[in-house]
Amino acid sequence: MSMIPSGNIAKVTVPELLQRKSPAADSPEKKITCLTAYDYPTGRLVDEAGVDVVLVGDSVAMVALGYDSTLPLTLEEALHHTKAVRRGVKRALLVADMPFGTYHGDVHEALKNGVRFIKEAGAEAVKVEGGERRLEVIARLVEAEIPVMGHVGLTPQSVHAMGGYRVQGKTANASDQLMRDARAVEAAGAFAIVLEGIPRELAAEITRNARIPTIGIGAGPDCDGQILVLHDMVGLTFQAAPKFARRYANVGVEIARAVREYCADVQSGNFPSDAESYHRARLLRMEEELPVNTDCDW
Ligand code: KIV
Repeated sequence: MSMIPSGNIAKVTVPELLQRKSPAADSPEKKITCLTAYDYPTGRLVDEAGVDVVLVGDSVAMVALGYDSTLPLTLEEALHHTKAVRRGVKRALLVADMPFGTYHGDVHEALKNGVRFIKEAGAEAVKVEGGERRLEVIARLVEAEIPVMGHVGLTPQSVHAMGGYRVQGKTANASDQLMRDARAVEAAGAFAIVLEGIPRELAAEITRNARIPTIGIGAGPDCDGQILVLHDMVGLTFQAAPKFARRYANVGVEIARAVREYCADVQSGNFPSDAESYHRARLLRMEEELPVNTDCDW
């Protein structure tokens, strides 16, 4: 039994996600749905809408904090956002991205940092970028009972080494290296692996050969699951979105429209209305009717 009941919802767990890779003969194949969230409302919205995995991605650095890349994100910033998302997520598996520099040096330091995501922030797993080079750190985290999601291909923390955000695995050599990277991540004990920005055919081959689920982003439809940055798919970013980031809503335009309307209403005296105001006589009457101490007036 891999689903932990929590109230009346079936909690998504690491064993349950692994089982989706090799479903029982009588259960239908079910793709894994993943989205990012960076705070309480987005965490709660994506969880209640039924997503399987919520990732507090280090993309928070660019999307929500306005940095130019994911590299400046600090451990404390990532923990702060993970704690907020934790408060909104009940059913989905909560995964936290380890920021650049928090797992690249000493393995004991990486373990200490990984533990903080679980112990202090309430994450149920961490994600680290990189393949063969991360074998040791992934194995150490897994040994400490911290489930790890790997991430290979276009890894944004390697932006300088890659010379930009470029699709990876274009040549035969690069494809072979990515296959080795994916195998290393699996061998080290990761429970899933994000494949980002690689050709569809390569992602399909890695998916066929892997015993753990692959989660694609810009890697075609043949992966075991998909992930997108929530803000990209709802139109709440300022940069041009990559071609794989299908837009399902235009929330940014809606927010701007609402703000313009509010400003116009304040200027014209149309907001607030009398009905949106408190009246002394009515408040006094309410106090007589409700003598018990209530802590709010609306
Ligand atoms: O940081 C992030 O949002 C990610 C996903 C897009 C995979 O790493």
